[in-house]
Amino acid sequence: MSKAIIKIESLTIGYDDVTVLKDISFQVRQGEIFIILGGSGCGKSTLLNHIIGLHSPQSGHIFIHSKDLTTADTAQRREILESFGVAFQGGALFGSMTLLDNVMLPLTEHTALPHSAVEWIARQKLALVGLAGFESKMPAQLSGGMQKRAALARAMALDPDILFLDEPSAGLDPVTAAHLDELILQLSQTLGITFVIVTHELQSIFSLAGRAIMLDKETQGIIAEGNPNDMKNDRSNPAVWRFFNRTAATETV
Ligand SMILES: Nc1ncnc2c1ncn2[C@@H]1O[C@H](COP(=O)(O)OP(=O)(O)OP(=O)(O)O)[C@@H](O)[C@H]1O
Ligand SMILES: [Mg+2]
Repeated sequence: MSKAIIKIESLTIGYDDVTVLKDISFQVRQGEIFIILGGSGCGKSTLLNHIIGLHSPQSGHIFIHSKDLTTADTAQRREILESFGVAFQGGALFGSMTLLDNVMLPLTEHTALPHSAVEWIARQKLALVGLAGFESKMPAQLSGGMQKRAALARAMALDPDILFLDEPSAGLDPVTAAHLDELILQLSQTLGITFVIVTHELQSIFSLAGRAIMLDKETQGIIAEGNPNDMKNDRSNPAVWRFFNRTAATETV
């Protein structure tokens, strides 16, 4: 079994004095596709945004590459934050910039590389996600699936070993979403990147075939962990059964 690249220990998170998730612990192993799932509003994005350092936890620890993000000083923190890439829920490419400029941005911000090298790397990343030839397009000129792939290219600009994706296939039709899942699998297999993916799309959960945790709004914690195929067939927890089998809370299971 590969080593843990992320360790979450007794983490309690939320906003101001409101707690969203309480005392959760889990580990992400190097090279795996790790899926965070659960119903709307259970705290998936909140968890992701804490792991990537956008918010400070109420208590607990976040270790990335064995370094504690919660106690790191400014320099250590910068080093940790530069070791991963993120594609946020909703995509968020800069609409007034070409695809090439969007992907070049993290490189110009975080490296001292000359412009020609930055441009070369950005072109490589766009080619990696199948967008060679689209460098000079503006985001609005592209389909939703292409925008998602461009966001993935931008998240990979600094050669991260971990990629965090929040609802990568949200808003895409099923065929386009399936293509994006295939691309993620391909990047995982060829580059060995560790993926942490937030999703509530059942199709993606099964095609990505990763290890998963399921968060729950009621208990503010993890209610299932492991292989999604096992979770789907587990009748011992009604909330898990309902999520995977699309039954309403009022139906008997
Ligand atoms: N910036 C914020 N300030 C205060 N409360 C917030 C903030 N962001 C989210 N919340 C609240 O935290 C809870 C969890 O929200 P979160 O966005 O993490 O859920 P989610 O699982 O990502 O949902 P979805 O599937 O709809 O994306 C919700 O009750 C939400 O209203
Ligand atoms: Mg969310």
